[in-house]
Amino acid sequence: MKYIMKKLISFVCTGMLMSTLFAQNKLPQLGKDNISKVIAAMTLEEKARLVVGIGGDTWKNPASGEKTVLVPGAAGCTYQIPRLGITPAVLPDGPAGLRINSNREGDAKKYYCTAFPTATALASTWNTSLVEEVGKAMGNEVHEYGADVLLSPAINLQRNPLCGRNFEYYSEDPLLIGKLAAAMINGIQSNGVGTSLKHFVANNIETNRKSVNEVISQRALRELYLRGFEIAVKESQPWTIMSSYNRLNGLYTSQNYDLITTVLRKEWGFKGMVMTDWDGGDDAVAQMKAGNDLIMPGNHQVKELLAAVKNKTIDEKTLDENVARILDFITSTPHFKQYVFSNAPDLKAHAQVAAKAAGEAMILLKNDNKTLPFAKIKKVALFGKNSYSAFITGGTGSGEVNFEKSISIAEAFQNAGYVVTPGLQKTYQQFIDTVITNSKRRNKKFAVDFHAEMPITEDLIKADVKNNDIAIITIARNAGEGSDRKITDFGLSETEKDLIKQVSKIYHEAGKKVVVALNIGGVIATADWRDDVDAIVLAWQTGMEGANALVKILKGEVNPSGKLAQSFPMVYTDVPSADNFPGEPAGNIVNAYYNEGIYVGYRYYETFHKPTAYEFGYGLSYTPFQYSGIKLSSPIFSDKITITVTVKNTGKVAGKETVQLYIAAPKTEIEKPVQELKGFAKSKLLQPSESEQLTFTLDAKLLASYWSGMSAWVADKGQYEVLIGASSKDIRQKASFEVRETIVVEKTNPVLYQNRLLKELSISDK
Ligand code: BGC
Repeated sequence: MKYIMKKLISFVCTGMLMSTLFAQNKLPQLGKDNISKVIAAMTLEEKARLVVGIGGDTWKNPASGEKTVLVPGAAGCTYQIPRLGITPAVLPDGPAGLRINSNREGDAKKYYCTAFPTATALASTWNTSLVEEVGKAMGNEVHEYGADVLLSPAINLQRNPLCGRNFEYYSEDPLLIGKLAAAMINGIQSNGVGTSLKHFVANNIETNRKSVNEVISQRALRELYLRGFEIAVKESQPWTIMSSYNRLNGLYTSQNYDLITTVLRKEWGFKGMVMTDWDGGDDAVAQMKAGNDLIMPGNHQVKELLAAVKNKTIDEKTLDENVARILDFITSTPHFKQYVFSNAPDLKAHAQVAAKAAGEAMILLKNDNKTLPFAKIKKVALFGKNSYSAFITGGTGSGEVNFEKSISIAEAFQNAGYVVTPGLQKTYQQFIDTVITNSKRRNKKFAVDFHAEMPITEDLIKADVKNNDIAIITIARNAGEGSDRKITDFGLSETEKDLIKQVSKIYHEAGKKVVVALNIGGVIATADWRDDVDAIVLAWQTGMEGANALVKILKGEVNPSGKLAQSFPMVYTDVPSADNFPGEPAGNIVNAYYNEGIYVGYRYYETFHKPTAYEFGYGLSYTPFQYSGIKLSSPIFSDKITITVTVKNTGKVAGKETVQLYIAAPKTEIEKPVQELKGFAKSKLLQPSESEQLTFTLDAKLLASYWSGMSAWVADKGQYEVLIGASSKDIRQKASFEVRETIVVEKTNPVLYQNRLLKELSISDK
């Protein structure tokens, strides 16, 4: 009897299920039916809910209140509508690797991710294939942990060294940014997951980031701030783009039709979906009209949109267009494709990719008398608190990654078989323990990084000088989202300078060398202390393999090949935007005036003959390279020109060289920086005496400047100089070609006017 009852119940249940399925089958289904049919079957409320995403990792069914955690720790997800086959898309951060929780309730398993080098560090590799490889590994973690889009890469221009998020960004040069971002996107997306290129555009200031109005001329916008995005969009088609928090020339970027629809979609051909940054903008209707499809995350906007459709403030058709782009995006996602993820990416293999990238990202800034690589060094005296606490892998905020472990520089030395002075280790460890215990920070992990350096006595330095072969001083900095760095953070503190001075004096007197390792996320002062020491390695924040990579560089197992993707000024006040950063009025800024116009970074320093501590493109190697045989495909430019040059390793150890191509354009009515980067190439690992021919191609757009009056990219007629350099200053080969007639390369729409007066810098002010 029981058996019959059971059968009966099961029969009735199956029948109910079948009839629901049948009813559902009659409804259009995403992926099976045309998107327009699916939209036609959506209620207005469903449309409004779809364009307003959900914050965090949990989906709450509005009808039943039932909660489902998708991928713990994800920053957000999209609304799901099961009856129409609309699955959720899970959107985690971030630029240095996947950011999800490593711990899950009631689960002993750890869900670690790989902390790769920060974008600033990756940019120093100037190696697009390596960046693509990093992207592939990052994207694999996104896929295998069951997410759909990585909220990355972040490519705002490094306009000023104090921007708190510079570590998440690549460079001060838009070409380098665009090419590296395209490589990163292609790498991530090769896994069948998406990216969100961010923050579109001009999120170059963190102070009052959700309201600040960035006043930028059309030319500076087109040539610098938009250019990296333009290259990346055209060369990689990211699935999504994230609009920025800031206002641009009066309007929030997410509410700016000209930016999102006219420029991004119509001019550049962007096919994907645009989402806001988290809680960005203030007007849901304006966002929909601008073409910012997804509001991340939201709630009250659903009601606002429903009311707006009702009172005809917005046409439902506009909402349909936003919905269509979201649905189209959803059909590509792993969730929609029901990808069965493993929750077990190959973290060991990814650690190796992170290690390789870290090694190639570090920059040798100074190396007097061949201090490096180590010869006969066995015992090292490590100074600076950050020699003993975990190597700083990256900055704070949404760019953090929950990885398993980052060892300290001291541990990395010990693991490589060096003796680390126990006396110093003990003193520093006591200091670190006290700092952590007393820290009021929510995340004690960062307590040491943000704490002032430990003052050190002469006696302590002297105590071990005899027993050691060399002194290494670590100078560290950390920064993060939501605030900018202070000028005091740019300069070294008195304690830090004193440490460098004292250690150098005592070690030099004992005939021993001193090396500084910089575990920093952005540009700092170097000019006022660098003469004290023998060698400087800019180790950046190079992810969880950074400490090991640093030791490999110091001992010569890896020959440094990183070069600066941003200028290191002599003093902060030399920075062209120093007077206008973060903005006005001081204390509670409203507007940020980009008065330096097109003269950002080396474009300024070179044109205005301002000396720098280390120039853009600079970086030493343990081997010298010779450049020769520059050849142009033609002395006259038609639609393209090819340039070849040979680079040869003339030293005794293998190494890679980054070769840069700058153009000095003819002088015409429109002023131009004296030189601009228009190409770069990294050699393979060249053995001693080995050479390689590198090829660069220039098209008309690369020669063009943006003429605001004409709203066009124009390449002036005249003689163009090709400068092939080992840095922006160290030019090794020159040639020239002629453009016979001025070329109007591309007409654009006359949009994005500045909304307030700028006093833009001009060569005539010199
Ligand atoms: C950041 C974004 C990030 C988002 C989600 C925002 O505060 O600006 O870069 O992707 O949060 O975490």
